Amino acid sequence: MNIVAIANQKGGVGKTTTAINLSTCLASLGKARVLLIDLDPQANVTSGLGFTPTPNTSLYEVLIGGERLADRVIPTRFDNLSLIPSDMDLAGAEIELAQAEDHLTRLREVLSQLRVAAMYDFVFIDCPPSLGVLMTSALAAADELLIPLQCEFFGLEGLAKIVHVQDQVRRSGANPDGRIEGIVMTMYDGRTNLSRQVVEQVREHFPDEVYQTVIRRSVRLGEAPSFGQAIIEYDPASSGSVDYRSLAQEFLTRHR
Ligand SMILES: Nc1ncnc2c1ncn2[C@@H]1O[C@H](COP(=O)(O)OP(=O)(O)O)[C@@H](O)[C@H]1O
Ligand SMILES: [Mg+2]
Repeated sequence: MNIVAIANQKGGVGKTTTAINLSTCLASLGKARVLLIDLDPQANVTSGLGFTPTPNTSLYEVLIGGERLADRVIPTRFDNLSLIPSDMDLAGAEIELAQAEDHLTRLREVLSQLRVAAMYDFVFIDCPPSLGVLMTSALAAADELLIPLQCEFFGLEGLAKIVHVQDQVRRSGANPDGRIEGIVMTMYDGRTNLSRQVVEQVREHFPDEVYQTVIRRSVRLGEAPSFGQAIIEYDPASSGSVDYRSLAQEFLTRHR
């Protein structure tokens, strides 16, 4: 089992879109059992998959109150996809965890139960857009870091920052084997030189990490969450469906 944090401290770069659509594409390929954890108090994965964020359903009480992790897992309409939803109350964990001595490793300990149970092949964590406790504890808990990066000039600046933070977490001893699994270029616009240049530059610096699959800018990808649907449900023939299916295939190939 691999725990994969989908993270970038910048907001609006495609973390949640990638979390929803990579998970649902992997599940629908039928080759992996997937658990998706919504760790963002904004609960965009939860609502984007058609669930209503509800108090007392998130990881909050597991992290703070000692509730059982297994009780927070809910099935989805995808056969091989389960979800741990989020709700605004998870924002409280950010503050309360910060005061705990084991704040960096508590999530890691909680999720270690999943390794014992061995019910999933991949566990994805959709992280909030900040360098707060929730995000850093996800970096401490995850075997792998998957970074969505917007094809824009300022995308690159953010990349240096998160790579640095992951390095700090690794050197703190909290997660000595944590590694960068990949970088997914998002919102690619083939008509602009900028998109091409940014992809080229990132490939130069991270030749092994950058996925061959690039996620194109697509209006349909932006619309799907307001219908509570993954892109393969909302518009199976759209470029967004093509791109995220391709990403899922490439992800599987990398993990073979
Ligand atoms: N490839 C894309 N093309 C068009 N819109 C996108 C694409 N990826 C994400 N979006 C939209 O951009 C916004 C930010 O994406 P989101 O995945 O929520 O980012 P994050 O989780 O990093 O904040 C959302 O409205 C989303 O629907
Ligand atoms: Mg998000």
